[in-house]
Amino acid sequence: MNNIQSDSFKVFFGSESYKKLIQYIDEHKVSKLFILVDENTLTNCLPVFKDQFSSTISFEVIRIKSGEISKNLDTCVQVWNELLLFGADRNSLLINLGGGMITDLGGFAASTYKRGIKFINIPTSLLAMVDASVGGKTGVDFGNLKNIIGLFSNPEMVLVDVAYLNTLPTREFKCGLAEVIKYGFIANIKLWNEIREDKNLNNNTIINLIHSSIHIKNEIVQTDFYEKNLRKILNFGHTIGHAFESYFLTKENSLNHGEAIAIGMVVELFLSHKLHQFPISLVEELKVFVHQFYGKINVDKNDIDDIISLLSHDKKNKLGKVMFVLLKKPEYPIIDCEVSYELINEGINYYLN
Ligand code: GLY
Repeated sequence: MNNIQSDSFKVFFGSESYKKLIQYIDEHKVSKLFILVDENTLTNCLPVFKDQFSSTISFEVIRIKSGEISKNLDTCVQVWNELLLFGADRNSLLINLGGGMITDLGGFAASTYKRGIKFINIPTSLLAMVDASVGGKTGVDFGNLKNIIGLFSNPEMVLVDVAYLNTLPTREFKCGLAEVIKYGFIANIKLWNEIREDKNLNNNTIINLIHSSIHIKNEIVQTDFYEKNLRKILNFGHTIGHAFESYFLTKENSLNHGEAIAIGMVVELFLSHKLHQFPISLVEELKVFVHQFYGKINVDKNDIDDIISLLSHDKKNKLGKVMFVLLKKPEYPIIDCEVSYELINEGINYYLN
C-alpha cells in the first residue's frame, strides 16, 4: 500500500509503518516518548502496538477516560500534568493511540504544551482512520459545544494499521463507514458502489476503502486547510446529521456520529434532488441501504420541529441562515446552499417513509 504525502507529513500503512515510526524517533533524537490511550485502547490496542514496536526506547503511558464526555479541558489538564510530571521537554513526542477523541485531544494537548511538542496519530477506529487523524483539526469540547476550543495543527506522521479494527465493535465500524460513503458521493462514487454491492467487506477491500478515503481527504485539505471554501464539502450529510446527533444526545437510544451522518446524507441528497436535479434513483438507493444497514430511526412531528430548530446552532450557518453542501450529481458538490425550512421538513419525512 502506497504512502500518502501531505504538506508536512506522511500517512503510512500496515506493519511497515512501525519501522517508519522507529526511524523517526531515532532521526529526531526524541528525548522522551509518551503514548496517550483511553481505557479501551489501553486494553485492546496498546498490546497490538507493543507487539509491533520493537524499539529500545521506553515510553510512558498516559491514560484518560474513554468517551466524548472526557474530551474537555479537565482531561487536557490531566495530560499536561502528566507530561510535566514525567519531565516532557520540547523534544518529547506524544503518540495518540485511539479514536477521534484521542487524536483530537492529544493533538491539542501536545500543540499547546510548552508552545508545542510533536505528535503522531495512530488511529484505532475506522472513523479516526478516514477522518479525524488527517486534516489537522485538534481540540476539545467546551460547555455543551463540540470542538469549540482548539487549533489547526498537523501530526508528524499518521500510522494506519487495520489490525486495530479487529476489536472495534460492529456499531463503531459502521459509524466509520458512513464517512467512507460520504467520500464516495462527494469525490469518488466507486467507493459507494463497492460498499453497496458488498456489505460483508473483506480486509483487502477495507484497506483500499481507507486508503482512498484518506487520499480524498488529503487532496481536499491540502487545497483548503483552514476550511474557507473547498474543505466545506467534507460537511456533506453533516448539517442534518449534527442536528439529529445533538437531538439524540438527550435521549435513551443515542445515535452515534456515523448513524446520524447516514440520515443526514439521505436527507441532503433528497434536497439535492429537489434543488439541483440530483438523480432520485440514487437517493432511493442510499435510503434503502441506510434503512437496512443502520436501522430506521423513528421521530414524530414534534421531534422534527425540535431537530430543525437545532439547525440554527450549526457552525456553518451564515448571517443566521442554515447552509448545506448539496450535490448536482455524484462527485459534484456545491457549498453554501440555502434551503427553506419547509423543504428540510419534506426531506426528513422522505427519510422516514
Ligand atoms: N471532519 C471534517 C474535516 O476535517 O474538515
